[in-house]
Amino acid sequence: HQEKTKVKNIQSVELGKHELDTWYYSPYPEPHASCNKLYICEYTLKYFRKKKTLLRHLAKCTLRHPPGDEIYRSPPAPANDPSLVGGAITNPPISMFEVDGKKGKVYCQNLCLLSKLFLDHKTLYYDVDPFLFYIMCEKDAQGYHIVGYFSKEKASAEGNNLACILTLPPYQRKGYGRFLIAFSYELSKKEGRVGSPERPLSDLGAVSYRSYWTREILEVLREHKASLSIKDISDKTAIRTDDVVKTLESLSLIKYWKGDHIISVTQKIVEDHCKTIANQKNIEIDLNRLHWTPYR
Ligand code: COA
Ligand code: NA
Repeated sequence: HQEKTKVKNIQSVELGKHELDTWYYSPYPEPHASCNKLYICEYTLKYFRKKKTLLRHLAKCTLRHPPGDEIYRSPPAPANDPSLVGGAITNPPISMFEVDGKKGKVYCQNLCLLSKLFLDHKTLYYDVDPFLFYIMCEKDAQGYHIVGYFSKEKASAEGNNLACILTLPPYQRKGYGRFLIAFSYELSKKEGRVGSPERPLSDLGAVSYRSYWTREILEVLREHKASLSIKDISDKTAIRTDDVVKTLESLSLIKYWKGDHIISVTQKIVEDHCKTIANQKNIEIDLNRLHWTPYR
């Protein structure tokens, strides 16, 4: 955890149409580490010290999406989508790409370096082989623009279904973090197992997970009026039982009686919940459009 104490080096990066102010130190190799600003190709994530060099690279670069398989593409917007009024598309098409750290090594290393600029505690940058990377992109006529990602160990001894998660700052607070978390649990469901994010979580990570778990668990409790056990909830959501218990405790929905957990949901809680989710940004995952099989 040496990096944590290091002073922030790179102050900003240019990535696609965005200029991003960085949050933390990232161990880009010299001489790039000593630059005030880096210029990054949004498709390969290669980094340059000069805009001129990036432009020269872009003129030759033919890649227009992450170097992996497109495993999810959001459904087309319906013709009468109110978000299309006035030609302003508020819900752009979303795609997810899977990149194997072993096959797309340089890309994944570059992604780790980029994401470290916004993460204060992760220390993984070069050993990307044991990970799969799930890249979220917005698609337009030019190509697939990275907006965020999460990584996942191919085989996690701890049963983690997510290692790192990032939404790039210009895209934060639009529901993309929730989408990435939901996606990680959908992959766990396809594997037929439960999962949990790697600890420690950052403050923003913790807020996002708490919100996700609360919604998923209350939805399940609302749908199944009959009494459900912690295990039932875990089976339906792929959320690990200790995370279910923690979430129920934080909502004061759990009681202990003679060594057993008892879940008690009041009508009031469910009504309050409905008001809360009305204000949440939620991008649905259409499972018919997820084409993925677990890593073997
Ligand atoms: N302050 C308060 N709440 C916030 C917040 C902020 N800055 N950012 C997100 N939230 C809340 C949202 O309100 C939402 O909750 P709600 O639906 O109940 O309202 C929930 O967190 C998820 O928001 P969402 O828009 O889906 O998340 P995001 O796209 O902004 O991404 C992270 C969330 C954590 C991925 C993003 O903040 C990030 O990349 N942070 C830097 C990297 C990091 O810390 N990763 C986690 C490492 S464990
Ligand atoms: Na957050």
